[in-house]
Amino acid sequence: MSDLEIFGVPGSLRKNAYSLGLLRAAQELAPKDMHIEVADIRAFPVFNQDDEDHPPEPVRVFQEKARAAHAILFSLNEHNYGLSAAEKNALDWGSRPYPKSAWNGKPAGIMSASIGMIGGARAQYELRQSMVFLNMFPINRPEVIVPFAAQKFDANGRLTDETSRKFISDHLTELARFTRVLLRIP
Ligand SMILES: Cc1cc2nc3c(=O)[nH]c(=O)nc-3n(C[C@H](O)[C@H](O)[C@H](O)COP(=O)(O)O)c2cc1C
Repeated sequence: MSDLEIFGVPGSLRKNAYSLGLLRAAQELAPKDMHIEVADIRAFPVFNQDDEDHPPEPVRVFQEKARAAHAILFSLNEHNYGLSAAEKNALDWGSRPYPKSAWNGKPAGIMSASIGMIGGARAQYELRQSMVFLNMFPINRPEVIVPFAAQKFDANGRLTDETSRKFISDHLTELARFTRVLLRIP
């Protein structure tokens, strides 16, 4: 059985971001046949269509890795009841130039965390709306939503909450199954 290459996209530029913490947990919990690389989106300028044919180097590398991956794992925070600007910016850069979108036809997982009680769920639904246009195929369940994040990570940013870790583990198992079915990977 060939391995699955997953590209993880965080929603935050913050050093100790919970969205990054979820991706690190996913790397720990990934099934044996899955490798997760986490994108570095910190140096991305705000998307400017004048530059889409010659994107800055960090964006070019990001697009290349996203295109090469079998599936994408988005890890969201939530800003003002929607996607953070950082996440939307990464999504926009990845989608261009049309029709060479890095997202087209990709299976996807979605996780989110927030210090609030809704756990970033609203940002998940905003992302799902964009995925219709982007022609992405997110798995529906199990969902990974981590509310009250400040109580679920330790001082080093490690996700310690066992229930959340189990949801991530199950999410990744389903992402692997779904990716193999959708892309016909034995
Ligand atoms: C500008 C801003 C807006 C926010 N809006 C929301 C929100 O709408 N819903 C929510 O649950 N948390 C909101 N928060 C709290 C964030 O979810 C929380 O700070 C989270 O830790 C940010 O994600 P990160 O840890 O990945 O950086 C907001 C935080 C900031 C700075």
